[in-house]
Amino acid sequence: MDIDTEKILVIGAGGQIGGELTLALRKKFGGAQVLASDLREESPLIKGTGPFTTLDALNKEAMHQIVKEHGITQIYHLAAVLSAVGEKQPLMAWNINMTALLNVLEIAKEEHLKRVYWPSSIAVFGPSSPKDNCPQQTIVEPTTVYGISKYAGESWCNYYFEKYGVDVRSIRYPGIISYKAAPGGGTTDYAIDIFHSALKTGTYTSFLKQDTYLPMMYMEDAIRATLELMDAPLENIKTHRSYNLGAISFSPNEIAAEIKKHLPEFTIEYQPDFRQAIADSWPASIDDSEARKDWGWEPEFDLAKMTADMLKNVKP
Ligand code: SER
Repeated sequence: MDIDTEKILVIGAGGQIGGELTLALRKKFGGAQVLASDLREESPLIKGTGPFTTLDALNKEAMHQIVKEHGITQIYHLAAVLSAVGEKQPLMAWNINMTALLNVLEIAKEEHLKRVYWPSSIAVFGPSSPKDNCPQQTIVEPTTVYGISKYAGESWCNYYFEKYGVDVRSIRYPGIISYKAAPGGGTTDYAIDIFHSALKTGTYTSFLKQDTYLPMMYMEDAIRATLELMDAPLENIKTHRSYNLGAISFSPNEIAAEIKKHLPEFTIEYQPDFRQAIADSWPASIDDSEARKDWGWEPEFDLAKMTADMLKNVKP
């Protein structure tokens, strides 16, 4: 990848992952080379680090205009409605998630963009998928609208690669834990809320049951994985659907015990809500051997390391 000639558009740069990804891309390619965009106004996290434009990802003409005007060569498309919000407004979630992705893919085709990044999720898996060490290729029958949209999106990505040669790459992110920007309506977000609550009040009420295991990952690992995937030579990329990506698997009970090692007075209660059913439909852990084999993926953060770093950095 010729760093000097790349011009990158990040869509959804105001989100939990989009913000940190923008910063990482700017560090790598230079601030001016990475145009951040979001429907909302520029977030404090990325302000002053490079150019920003307002963009509604549902507006294809506006997106196309920006791509042409700025000579964009790659798009990182992060804007999406996540699982918990999606279950409240299914058709809205479907419309946003699919329309925005198809706009990106169409423009990538028309403008012959070099590369596209689009995240999928562990939410593609449903109750009929294996619970433990869920493989990349297995029974995939999602039961949330978020999962349905991500699974359909994976097939569209592959379609644009096969039919039009669009080099689109994707990772099925697990729950991403971070402290720099607030998460946006996911089921795995309890594992972020718990830190804020622990530091602020010393107690947390979990909306998932104590023994609900979910695949999780620290943001630093997720960003590194994304850059590594996008850096890999094309011949190493064996799927243009999406790669399983694993790191940690823990339950509310386990993360609470880890927090207690630092804050012995911390207490946790359980009041499961509608998000329990979403979590129950997903695997507890992920087999990411394909990503390890194809482009050398290896996580760095385990539960202990992540917890220590979160407690050091979360501002209650
Ligand atoms: N973190 C996401 C969610 O809970 C899963 O990809 O919706």
